[in-house]
Amino acid sequence: MSQIKVTFIEDDGTERVVDNAQTGQSLMEVGRSNSVAGILADCGGACACATCHVYIDPDWVDAVGAADEIETDMLDMTGEVQKDNSRLSCQIFLTEALDGLKVTVAPLI
Ligand code: FES
Repeated sequence: MSQIKVTFIEDDGTERVVDNAQTGQSLMEVGRSNSVAGILADCGGACACATCHVYIDPDWVDAVGAADEIETDMLDMTGEVQKDNSRLSCQIFLTEALDGLKVTVAPLI
């Protein structure tokens, strides 16, 4: 495993930089273990709650990739706060290619 850096921007604009995230971790786990506001992850990463919703920085959308069908269905339930760059952070697993990833925490619904 390697250490990589990820940045979360919380709903109030606070920037939280985590520079010791591990490859293989989910982005949700990194957010939870660093007390990032708004990453509740009520279902524990089962893609069943959408309380880990983030917006991927436009520069990182291609590197992160698209949601699968199950995740897309879950994201559809977030209603008006869903955007083209929405993803569930529990479904994003960190790799070295995501070193420097930046996301904004979506408002809770
Ligand atoms: S933690 Fe529930 S959908 Fe991600």
